Amino acid sequence: MVTSSTPKSPMRRAKPWEQLGLLGFFALSSLVFLLAFCFLYMDYGADLRRRTAAVVLGGFVVEEEGGGGGGGGGGECDLFDGEWVWDERHPLYESQDCPFLDEGFRCLENGRPDGFYTKWRWKPRRCSLPRFDAEDMLEKLRNRRLVFVGDSIGRNQWESLLCMLSSVISDKSSIYEVNGSPITKHNGFLVFKFSNYNCTVEYYRSPFLVVQGRPPVGLPDNIKTTLRLDVMDWMSSRWIDADVLIFNTGHWWNYEKTIRGGCYFQEGEEVKMEMSVETAFRRSIETLFDWINKEVDTNRTHVIFRTYAPVHFRGGDWKTGGNCHLETLPELGPPMLSLKEWTHFLNPFRNIKKIHAGTRVAEVDILNVTQMSARRRDGHSSLYYLGRSGPAPLHRQDCSHWCLPGVPDVWNELLYALFLRSQRRRESAVHRNTTALGMSRE
Ligand SMILES: *[C@@H]1O[C@H](CO)[C@@H](O)[C@H](O)[C@H]1NC(C)=O
Ligand SMILES: *[C@@H]1O[C@H](CO)[C@@H](O)[C@H](O)[C@H]1NC(C)=O
Ligand SMILES: *[C@@H]1O[C@H](CO)[C@@H](O)[C@H](O)[C@H]1NC(C)=O
Ligand SMILES: *[C@@H]1O[C@H](CO)[C@@H](O)[C@H](O)[C@H]1NC(C)=O
Repeated sequence: MVTSSTPKSPMRRAKPWEQLGLLGFFALSSLVFLLAFCFLYMDYGADLRRRTAAVVLGGFVVEEEGGGGGGGGGGECDLFDGEWVWDERHPLYESQDCPFLDEGFRCLENGRPDGFYTKWRWKPRRCSLPRFDAEDMLEKLRNRRLVFVGDSIGRNQWESLLCMLSSVISDKSSIYEVNGSPITKHNGFLVFKFSNYNCTVEYYRSPFLVVQGRPPVGLPDNIKTTLRLDVMDWMSSRWIDADVLIFNTGHWWNYEKTIRGGCYFQEGEEVKMEMSVETAFRRSIETLFDWINKEVDTNRTHVIFRTYAPVHFRGGDWKTGGNCHLETLPELGPPMLSLKEWTHFLNPFRNIKKIHAGTRVAEVDILNVTQMSARRRDGHSSLYYLGRSGPAPLHRQDCSHWCLPGVPDVWNELLYALFLRSQRRRESAVHRNTTALGMSRE
């Protein structure tokens, strides 16, 4: 069989002028590369100089303000006032390398086509975050317990931290669930042990934080269960002596997940048929604060409350076809987003330190992720939560949970910052007579 035109051999020799062109191309691209390198280097140098000139406060590099000290008051920078910036050093791990992730969070593996959402870091306006250092955190957690308590968004954050910490441990089998439970088990609790450090990173499922149980006898049949707003979850005895204790709640405090299903609110022996979900939520948070005051030694336990993480259903909710699958970028730029939709979740924490001044509650750190996460409508699992069986139908999207790697990693970078801050406070309380403030590495 003969073809009329012979195809060009891909291996044909380049003609002399073509070789020259090739050479020129290489020369030019090297030059461009060199220039880019110099530019980056200079930029880095400037950054370094800025850092050296910065004041170190409680382990944080606080960049000096251009003029006049700003409204931050007594010195500590507001970590949650800032913006999302593109960062080539993110993500901090790949989901394929982390055996501790639910299928539902592995968006890229599940077919999500864009990966921009893994590339953002949080930049506080007036200071820099310390770089997450898994070895350092594990070392500081040696022989200790770190405990997450809350709903499935808390679980989202817990799994993210497991991946971030385990990224520096090559022998993944040295990390295991102490009761042999698989990660996909959704009820009760899971305790992962990092055996090289004898520390555990635990998750307790408790979406309401207070007890949900059978109603008192003799009430109408439509009352199926009650939430006992004045009694902490029975599991709470296991949380008391954690070294780091991180709470969250909110996503179950709505009509759908309570009253509609026959779950009413109870205080003492009395079921309050008229009580609104918002009031009930507030009561449960008061119960949490009371419990912290009575039961938790905040000198020993670093208590953190993570605020509500916004959901981003557009054009409906989770069961009426709301969507978020076309979102690929965060809200950039300075204007604050309105958090009106979520004020009833945020109000109980407003001025909490002032109201509880002098009590242990004043020691609780607020991991205030609401505003920053409101800007991340691009971070959700959307259609990519079903594992390898392919994308979900368009009308069944998940715009509440977050892809991993992704936004919860950044919450954990902030958690690490709060953790370092608290470690330093403890150390300076122990060595009260040595200088509390000193230069340190970032
Ligand atoms: C491991 O940590 C626990 C506290 O979580 C402690 O009681 C125990 O003594 C530690 N074991 C060793 C060998 O240090
Ligand atoms: C906590 O530490 C403070 C200051 O070091 C001390 O005054 C207080 O008694 C401690 N509280 C408990 C419950 O140990
Ligand atoms: C959380 O941050 C938002 C926005 O920066 C702020 O309005 C709110 O008061 C903060 N809440 C708490 C409890 O710190
Ligand atoms: C300061 O602390 C050191 C131990 O950290 C102790 O030896 C020393 O006596 C203390 N000094 C004063 C003035 O309390």
